[in-house]
Amino acid sequence: MRVSGVLRFLALIFALVTTWIFIRSYISLNAKTIRLPRWLSLVTKEIPVVRAKCGLAKPCPKEFFAFKISSGAANVVGPTMCFENQVIMSPVKNNVGRGLNIALVNGTTGMVLTQKCFDMYSGEVKLLVKFLKEIPEGTLVLVASYDDPGTRLNDETRKLLSSLGSSYAKQLGFRDSWVFLGAKDLKDKSPFEQFLKNNPNTNKYEGWPELLELEGCVPRKIP
Ligand SMILES: *[C@@H]1O[C@H](CO)[C@@H](O)[C@H](O)[C@H]1NC(C)=O
Repeated sequence: MRVSGVLRFLALIFALVTTWIFIRSYISLNAKTIRLPRWLSLVTKEIPVVRAKCGLAKPCPKEFFAFKISSGAANVVGPTMCFENQVIMSPVKNNVGRGLNIALVNGTTGMVLTQKCFDMYSGEVKLLVKFLKEIPEGTLVLVASYDDPGTRLNDETRKLLSSLGSSYAKQLGFRDSWVFLGAKDLKDKSPFEQFLKNNPNTNKYEGWPELLELEGCVPRKIP
């Protein structure tokens, strides 16, 4: 009687342990089958999150700087400039204004040297000429228009902007949209430029053409 009692007890223990093991493996199996799609959905969610610098569609190659320049929209929203994922000028930073917005970047290190807005209506053309003449060699020059960049531009300014590689500086006029990236010692015309003439027949906004966006990868200057 006592031996069968012990055996019954052992059988009960054995049954409990196997049931427990079975339940445990069943749960972990379930957890795995649940976890797999979760992991997959995480991966598919992460793909659009991985963005290149300045929101570019693709990262720039090594030895290139990423940039994105947006001109102002009419006289309502100011321009924005991003360089190597750093917003240099924007309405949020409160360092943009109507006229020409210009940022200077060291072409070797990618470090921002200065940024300034020149309002032609405040007689800042002289300041702009001085500013453009003093740009050091090997400097990248980022330009974005806002509202009216062209009305009071003089020949000297147009020549200086053209010497940075601009094709459109000579014809920049009243309320044109213009975005440009050039460099101080550029021998050729810059491939980074967009221009839209103010034309009442084609203007997107009443009185202003559409805003322009310019983005890309500019090669680092090897000293
Ligand atoms: C740019 O950076 C390089 C390397 O630090 C330096 O030699 C050069 O003087 C800088 N140029 C300007 C214009 O700051």
